Amino acid sequence: MKILMVCLGNICRSPLAQGVMEHIAMQKKMDCTIDSAGTSSFHNGQPPDPRSIAVAKDNGIDITHQRSQLLVASDLDQYDYIFVMDKSNYRDTVALASTEDQKEKIKLFLEFGGSDILEVPDPYYTLGFDYVYNLISEACQIICDKIIAEHNL
Ligand code: 4NP
Repeated sequence: MKILMVCLGNICRSPLAQGVMEHIAMQKKMDCTIDSAGTSSFHNGQPPDPRSIAVAKDNGIDITHQRSQLLVASDLDQYDYIFVMDKSNYRDTVALASTEDQKEKIKLFLEFGGSDILEVPDPYYTLGFDYVYNLISEACQIICDKIIAEHNL
């Protein structure tokens, strides 16, 4: 099972989603790999934002080794599930798809419940990193349980 987390810069939200999902997957002994990417290359090669590193660390998760990378069309074949953080990411990711199969893999990360909102807000220019972490953490739990149930992992 291969899961890709996607946001705009791949330095704030999707690195957190990757780190939290890896943490849960390890706890639950799920056989899967998780990565993340950005729809822009603004921060290509850079580590996560220090505020994402800090909130992950506060929760016992190390994301310092991650590096921002650009989402590419071949990712839509490489991964089984592609979770995007907001609707703008959704539009940019769907624009790379050339088949229905690829399109169907792309899901809003919050669409499986756990919160009243459908988009993880971009925290880059705000101070909402704790809030964003909590949203991401709840959604990861729900998604892991769903994947385990669907695939008998
Ligand atoms: P992310 O946050 O998409 O969660 O990584 C952002 C990071 C950088 C920028 C925007 C959003 N930026 O405009 O540089």
